[in-house]
Amino acid sequence: MARLSVQHLLGIQNLTLDDIELIFETADNFKEVINRPIKKVPSLRDITIANVFFENSTRTRLSFELAEKRLSADVVNFSSSSSSVKKGETLLDTVNNILAMKVDMIVMRHSSPGAPHFLANHISANIVNAGDGTHEHPTQALLDAFSIREKYKSFRGLKVAIIGDILHSRVALSNIFALKKLGAEVMVCGPNTLLPKYIGSLGVKVGLDVQKALEWCDVANVLRIQLERQQIKYFPSLREYSLYYGITKAMLDKLNKPITIMHPGPINRGVELSSDAADSEHSIILEQVENGVAIRMAILYLLALKKE
Ligand code: CP
Repeated sequence: MARLSVQHLLGIQNLTLDDIELIFETADNFKEVINRPIKKVPSLRDITIANVFFENSTRTRLSFELAEKRLSADVVNFSSSSSSVKKGETLLDTVNNILAMKVDMIVMRHSSPGAPHFLANHISANIVNAGDGTHEHPTQALLDAFSIREKYKSFRGLKVAIIGDILHSRVALSNIFALKKLGAEVMVCGPNTLLPKYIGSLGVKVGLDVQKALEWCDVANVLRIQLERQQIKYFPSLREYSLYYGITKAMLDKLNKPITIMHPGPINRGVELSSDAADSEHSIILEQVENGVAIRMAILYLLALKKE
């Protein structure tokens, strides 16, 4: 049976193309499982997983918990806001205490880039990065690419534009790494102030004009303005951002070509995407969410296999 080359899922850069294809093929099987009347399999019956979230989350946290429960794992949930972290406990002490209760895997979201990489150097349990600050969000990129694969079958020659707040986005970086590995052409587009200076060195096109980006691409992955990570003003106002970078259904309809709209969520309706665009026939946003459960089942299952 094929195995992943990694013991932890820390980021997309650490995965080989074979790893990504194995995750997709395994997710195909689990997607079939979660669409059955009985959505559960016994694959992780003897495994205990802790979801350790130091940052807010709706989709990722619920999606991991459902994935774990559908694989019959035992699940515990940790939220920093109601924990002894508030009393000054370190990250490593917190995680070592969780592991002392015989936990096999840690799924962690943390605001500090590199936090899961740090843990991986200090503990033996499998770590899954559920988003580390502005760095990577590998399971989001895998579910995004899986959703694109479902619609287009192949990435060869496919043009994907990632539009919005690239500077503060972990989704952008993981998507760039995944899509480039799979053979797609990638453009990032946003105001100059929200594009990192190094971004062109990752082998992506860089654009400032959202209309031109939409004309160029087959798929537009639209990202949220991450106000919570912005210590200074990067643009005059949300109204002005929406005027120059907001995507509406009228803009999509006027393109006179098929286009797919994606968004990792949460959406700021009326800022980066109008409601009629988010809910239009161009959008596969809820398919992304559905696919997230199958992708996370595949990752947890394949990491557990590595232990055997
Ligand atoms: N896409 C994503 O990471 O959403 P949450 O922050 O709700 O988990």
